[in-house]
Amino acid sequence: MVNVLVVGKGGREHALCWKLKQSPRVKRVFCAPGNAGTALEATNVPIEVGDTRSLIQFAKRENIRLTVVGPEDPLMAGIVDAFQKEGLRIFGPRQEAAELEGSKIFAKDLMRQAGIPTADYRVFRAAPDAERYILTRDVSLSVRPRLRSAPRGGAAAVTCRTAAEALEAIDRAFDPREGAGAVEIEGRGQRLVFEQAAEARRYVLDRSLNLVVKADGLAAGKGVVVSHTIGEAMEAIDAFMVRRTLGRAGDRILIEERLDGQEVSILALTDGRTIVPLEPCQDHKRAYDGDEGPNTGGMGAYCPTPIVTPDLMTVIEGEILVPAVHALKRARRAFRGLLYAGLILTNQGPKVLEFNVRFGDPEAQVLLMRLKSDLFEALDAVVEERLDEVQLEWDPRPALTVVMASDGYPGNYERGRAIHGLDDAERIPDVKVFHAGTMLRTDPVTGREMRVVTDGGRVLNVTALGETLRAAKERAYQAVSAIRFQGGWYRRDIGDRAIAAGA
Ligand code: AMP
Ligand code: GLY
Repeated sequence: MVNVLVVGKGGREHALCWKLKQSPRVKRVFCAPGNAGTALEATNVPIEVGDTRSLIQFAKRENIRLTVVGPEDPLMAGIVDAFQKEGLRIFGPRQEAAELEGSKIFAKDLMRQAGIPTADYRVFRAAPDAERYILTRDVSLSVRPRLRSAPRGGAAAVTCRTAAEALEAIDRAFDPREGAGAVEIEGRGQRLVFEQAAEARRYVLDRSLNLVVKADGLAAGKGVVVSHTIGEAMEAIDAFMVRRTLGRAGDRILIEERLDGQEVSILALTDGRTIVPLEPCQDHKRAYDGDEGPNTGGMGAYCPTPIVTPDLMTVIEGEILVPAVHALKRARRAFRGLLYAGLILTNQGPKVLEFNVRFGDPEAQVLLMRLKSDLFEALDAVVEERLDEVQLEWDPRPALTVVMASDGYPGNYERGRAIHGLDDAERIPDVKVFHAGTMLRTDPVTGREMRVVTDGGRVLNVTALGETLRAAKERAYQAVSAIRFQGGWYRRDIGDRAIAAGA
C-alpha cells in the first residue's frame, strides 16, 4: 500500500482524490491545498500549488509514492522537473513539454510541422503589424464625398477593397480642405450617408470578420477573442499588445481563422510511446443557456458524447494524438502525462483549437465517474513508461455534471456563503457532488461545528450517472435542486444538444 499526493484545489482534484482512494493499492491520499470536498476523501495539507519546495519536502516526509498535478500553472513552472531531480515520482509533463499549453504559438508551430489539422494562423510581435493585417481584410466598399457646394455628387466615388483604404478615404473626405459635408458609403447592396467622420469610421469597423485573436501565453480563458467585426479584433489587439491587459502573455499574439462546428474534448494518457485515449467528452464553456454569454472555465460536461463515433475517434487518434506525441518526442520534449486536445468538428473534419497538458475541469469529473479501472495503476504506468500494459474499462452508462456557480462568476463574486443540502443531494443513487470552490469554516454561532462555505466562482460539480444521458441529466438536476447557497446559479441545458440528437 502506498501514499499519494494530489496538487490543486478544484473539482478536478476532488475527483482525482475520490478515484485514487478507491484503489486497493492506495493507503492514504493527501491533497495540497484541497477544499472542503477533498477533505472527505483525503487529508488536506496547507501547502499552496505554487510552493514546489514545500511540496517536495512533504512528499519526502510522508513517503509519497506518486504525486498527481491537477492544474497547468505548476506544470509550466517546472514542478515535474523539480520532483524528478529529487528522485520523486510525479504524474505530468516536464516544463518543456508543458509549453504545448503554455504557448499557443509553440503549439501552432508544432501542429503545422506535424501536419495536424488546425485553423490557419499568423503570428504577430507588434501591434501595428497585427492592426495592418486586420485592416487589409477585404471589405469592398465605395466611399463618395458629398461636397457642401454640390450636395448631389460632384466628387467621384473611391473604390476601397480594404478597411484601411476605406478609413483613409473617409478621413480625406472630411479633411476641411476637401469641404465634404458628408460621405456616402456603398457596399453589400446598401447605401448610407454619414455626416460625421466618427460614424463613418465606426461603420467600416463594424464590417464582419471571421478571425480569432489570441494572446500567446496563459491567460485563464481571457486570452481569446472570437472577433465578429474588424473593430472587435482591433480592440483585442489594443488590449493585449498596447494596454497589455494580460501582461507578458500578450507579448506575441496569434490571429487565426474562425472555425465553425461543435467543440469536443479528447483526453488521452500517454507515456510518450503508448497513447490510451479516454472516452470523448463535451463541455459547455459559455456562461448561460443556449451557449450565450462570456467564456468560463466550463459550466458542465458529459461523457461520452455521441457525436464522436468510434470511426471519428480513430481519425482523431491517427491525425491528431499520434502525430502530436511523436512531434513532441522528436523535438526532445517527450510528453508523459495527460494530453487534452480541444477540438472543433468542422465540415472538413476535426481540427485542434488548443492543447492542454492536464485533465480538463469539469471533464475529469465525468470521466472519472465512469472509469472502472484503477486510476492509481494507470497513472503509475504512465510514470513508469509501461502504459502498454494498461487497458481501461468504462461504465457503459453516461455521466453528466452541472456546475453550480457563485453570482458574478466569471467576473467578481463573494465567498464564504453557507452551502446547504449537500447530504440530501448525495443520497440520490449514482450522484456524486465534487467540490470545486469550497472551504470549511467554523460556525460563527457555536464556534465549533465546521460548515461548508463557498470559496470560488465555480463552487460545486453535481455529477450523476444514468442509463441514458437524459436519465443522467435528470438525476444531476434533481441533486442540484437539493442544494442551496445564496447567489448560486447554474445552466439548465447541460447535455441538451446530445439528448435532442437522440443520446
Ligand atoms: P482556446 O483557449 O484556444 O480553447 O479558446 C477558447 C474558446 O474560444 C474555445 O473554446 C472556442 O470556443 C473559441 N475559439 C478558439 N479558437 C477558435 C477558432 N479558431 N474558431 C472558433 N472558435 C474558437
Ligand atoms: N474544461 C476546459 C478545460 O479544462 O480547459
